[in-house]
Amino acid sequence: MSLLLKNINTDKIPQHIAVVMDGNGRWAKNNGLLRAIGHKSGVKAVREVVQACNDIGVKHLTLYTFSTENWNRPKVEVNALMELMVDSLTKELAGFMKNNVKILTIGDTEDLPKRCKRKFADVVAMTANNSGLNLIFALSYSSRKEITSAVKAIAEAVLKNEISPEEINSELIDKHLYTSAIPDPELLIRTSGELRISNFLLWQLAYSELYFTPVLWPDFKKDDLYAAVIDYQQRERRFGKTSEQIKK
Ligand code: IPE
Ligand code: IPE
Ligand code: MG
Repeated sequence: MSLLLKNINTDKIPQHIAVVMDGNGRWAKNNGLLRAIGHKSGVKAVREVVQACNDIGVKHLTLYTFSTENWNRPKVEVNALMELMVDSLTKELAGFMKNNVKILTIGDTEDLPKRCKRKFADVVAMTANNSGLNLIFALSYSSRKEITSAVKAIAEAVLKNEISPEEINSELIDKHLYTSAIPDPELLIRTSGELRISNFLLWQLAYSELYFTPVLWPDFKKDDLYAAVIDYQQRERRFGKTSEQIKK
């Protein structure tokens, strides 16, 4: 058993971990390889975090897989990523079933190429009855777009007199987000040393603990996930209160 795994407090496991999987391109460059190979090497890291989350009993894992901004990358790279997703989902399905993993997606999945969209829909349907880890892929995801469509839907409901403006509160906004059925992440991990959120879960991360590591995504291992969880467990989450109030 990993030494880090032994140091995890099983009473304080985050229910939801969100990850910005960053650094595939730099990993490829460092190794003299094409960017697409960097992405391909990132699949192994996905397997590692899924297993690690399963092992410690995390309930939800959200992976930032493709942002709306990523559509602006060179076409060859976008195509390679779409193909990689189709290919990886096909290969990983048996493992998801064996490990009781349920696949979900958030984002504008309608914008994905047909083959990719269909593959995700198939895997979502096939794993729908699994009751273990919820593995949520953020695809063609933009948090500002998500919030904008929530605002639009609420405005329309007000126009139709279905709700009054006084009824608009945090809970109602939550209900209109892609993540309505999922608790906010307690922990956000970003790899590759970048210190930014990049339009990911802006609303949901309001009180998340942020963990940044220089490790490039393809090098990320189970122990890196455990190290992040241990770091999280040592923090005092005060939610605006004083330390004394928390300790009482
Ligand atoms: C993350 O790795 C994967 C995606 C954004 C799809 P990058 O491709 O952003 O890697 P770097 O940041 O160029 O190293
Ligand atoms: C964020 O990574 C998106 C994903 C990990 C899918 P990027 O590498 O695209 O982020 P920025 O644009 O450098 O902030
Ligand atoms: Mg990047």
